Formats: sequence, structure tokens, C-alpha cells
Amino acid sequence: METQEICIRTARLTDADAIAEITHQYAENGIMLKRAPENIIENIRNFFVAEVGGRVVGCCAISFFTLHLAEIRTLAVCERFKRMGVGSMLVEKAETILREEGVADAFVLTLAPRFFETLGYRSVSKEMFPQKIWRDCTNCPKLMSCDEIAMIKQLRQGG
Ligand SMILES: CC(C)(COP(=O)(O)OP(=O)(O)OC[C@H]1O[C@@H](n2cnc3c(N)ncnc32)[C@H](O)[C@@H]1OP(=O)(O)O)[C@@H](O)C(=O)NCCC(=O)NCCS
Repeated sequence: METQEICIRTARLTDADAIAEITHQYAENGIMLKRAPENIIENIRNFFVAEVGGRVVGCCAISFFTLHLAEIRTLAVCERFKRMGVGSMLVEKAETILREEGVADAFVLTLAPRFFETLGYRSVSKEMFPQKIWRDCTNCPKLMSCDEIAMIKQLRQGG
């Protein structure tokens, strides 16, 4: 494939359909949780997208929990554009924004621990994030059989 520039930018409302499409394919396979289109629209300001040749090929979102803790979520890259650095660039963009906001720690719940290890995340117990469990997990159909791995990265020294 011809090398094309990857552009990471804040999502716009008009990206909502593309984000839904990218995440839907993984949700169908149980790799990620399905996010309803209206939920994506409601949270569009928290999303970033990766664009290649004018096409949205990946997405990622941030979700604030406390002044010091935030989640990086809904990370997905189109099958055809995997292993080209898109996922890493999306996570790095999210981390940059979180650092600018003064967030000390970023966490993820993921089925892709190897990928996050390469970016400096380490596995921890889910019990470290009771706020996440109250907010999202209690409504999740997988609650009692959750197979996602919790991982954390310190974004700031002394945080
Ligand atoms: C996880 C995901 C976002 C990675 O995106 P990506 O653009 O392919 O990742 P990158 O190209 O930035 O990969 C960086 C490094 O991470 C590691 N990595 C990436 N995918 C991996 C995988 N499936 N298994 C093991 N290591 C992996 C590799 O070391 C890779 O470097 P390399 O290609 O030079 O070997 C992508 O595979 C995806 O969309 N998966 C389905 C949805 C999902 O699981 N999302 C995470 C939910 S939080």
C-alpha cells in the first residue's frame, strides 16, 4: 500500500457515523462494547479520530473520572489500517490532552493488553477504579463475567 499521512484530530459531529461504523464491527465480535450512535453524538467532544487520505480509519475517546484520573476508551482502528501506528498515535493524542488538563493517571479496560504494554501501561486490579464500576460497569451485560483487563499509566511524576 502507498504510504499516506496519518492525521489525528479532534472529532467533529459529522464523524459520528464513521466512529459508529468502526466500533460496530468490533462490538459484533465481542471485542468491544457497543456504543449507541446517540451516545457517540452526546460525547463527540471527547473523541479523537485518525484520518488517512480524508477517510476516518480509527477513533478513541477520553472520559474524566476525577481531577486526577481519566479513562481512555472506545479505541478502534479499521482492520485494513492496523499495525501502522494509528492506534498508538490515537492513545498518545489522548494522553497529551489529559496531561494538559493536569490528569495524573490514565486507565483502560481492554482485551488488547500487549498493545497497551508497548505504550507503558501496566495491569492492575479493576477494584482500583470503583468510579468506573458505578458509572458504566453496573449497566454492562458482561458485569459478572467481565474479561477485560484493567491497565494504568502514570502521566505525571508525583501524581
Ligand atoms: C488494539 C488496536 C487499537 C491497535 O491499533 P494499531 O493501530 O494496530 O496499533 P499500532 O500499529 O499502533 O501498534 C503498536 C504496537 O502495539 C503492539 N500491538 C498492536 N496490536 C497488537 C496485537 N493485536 N497483539 C500484540 N501486539 C500488538 C505491537 O507491538 C505494535 O507494534 P508493531 O506493529 O511495530 O509490532 C487495534 O488492534 C484495534 O482496533 N483492535 C480492536 C479493538 C480493540 O481491541 N480496542 C482496544 C479496546 S480499549
